[in-house]
Amino acid sequence: MVIRLQTAYALDPMLNHVTSHQPRPLPPNLLEKRNRVRVPQIQQPLIQVKGLQKTYTTGATEVRALRGIDLAIERGEFVAIMGPSGSGKTTMMEVLGCLSRPTAGDYWLNGRAVHEIPAADLAVVRGEQIGFVFQSFNLLPRLDAMENVELPLGYRGVPRNERRARARDALRRVGLEARAHHRPAQMSGGERQRVAIARALVNRPSLVLADEPTGNLDSATGHEIMELLRKVHSEGNTVVIVTHDPAIGQQAERRVTIHDGLLAADSAWTARG
Ligand SMILES: Nc1ncnc2c1ncn2[C@@H]1O[C@H](COP(=O)(O)OP(=O)(O)OP(=O)(O)O)[C@@H](O)[C@H]1O
Ligand SMILES: [Mg+2]
Repeated sequence: MVIRLQTAYALDPMLNHVTSHQPRPLPPNLLEKRNRVRVPQIQQPLIQVKGLQKTYTTGATEVRALRGIDLAIERGEFVAIMGPSGSGKTTMMEVLGCLSRPTAGDYWLNGRAVHEIPAADLAVVRGEQIGFVFQSFNLLPRLDAMENVELPLGYRGVPRNERRARARDALRRVGLEARAHHRPAQMSGGERQRVAIARALVNRPSLVLADEPTGNLDSATGHEIMELLRKVHSEGNTVVIVTHDPAIGQQAERRVTIHDGLLAADSAWTARG
């Protein structure tokens, strides 16, 4: 799993050549009219999946890893995807992260129909919309913290001065400004994961997706990383983590449990009645 994500992340930069399209501002007369009429804004959830299925075919064997999942995640939520080994968590996270396409069903991310995007273009969506945090940090060993955080910006052609400023700001947000010129080998596991979180934030993604972010850390450091992810969430980001650890999942705002490729529980059902 980690290897597959790693490979996809490494490929992103090469494929990520399209810049994001900003909506054009309304002309003043229309703006004024809109403000007067107060048209209610119908906001789609950030993530909406319907009837999501993923089947792996290996030779004559078919594994139905996801068997029809409906799920909506609003902007600004902090969700943990949980479930026993083999239940489909990683598969779900790969689909949500646009690392793989569903076999059937629909997936809208930030209003875009991901299920209609050709596999070759998924990397563009990933680069624009998603900040990844991996279990094994995935930092480049020869680069210092600052250069690692700058990396996603370099691929998008952001000028050097702005790259530096944004990377410094991201490092400040994770409390690591003082380690800007340390390489990964000169930092603790918790510090490396902080750098990785800064890297995930530097592109201002609409979704921060973390795959077992505390899996390689001792429990005290794991809790510090969860604290940081909670802070990232409280600053307005949508955060989705995958974890098999109930103590970690407990720290998210909402828990979605998958069993055998189907949604088995969602703490939002209980909360919303
Ligand atoms: N690339 C693949 N090819 C074939 N089968 C796969 C592939 N990836 C996952 N599977 C199968 O799909 C099912 C779900 O796997 P998945 O990795 O999503 O589970 P998981 O919930 O992440 O488990 P864990 O907690 O052990 O990481 C499993 O039965 C697994 O064997
Ligand atoms: Mg997994």
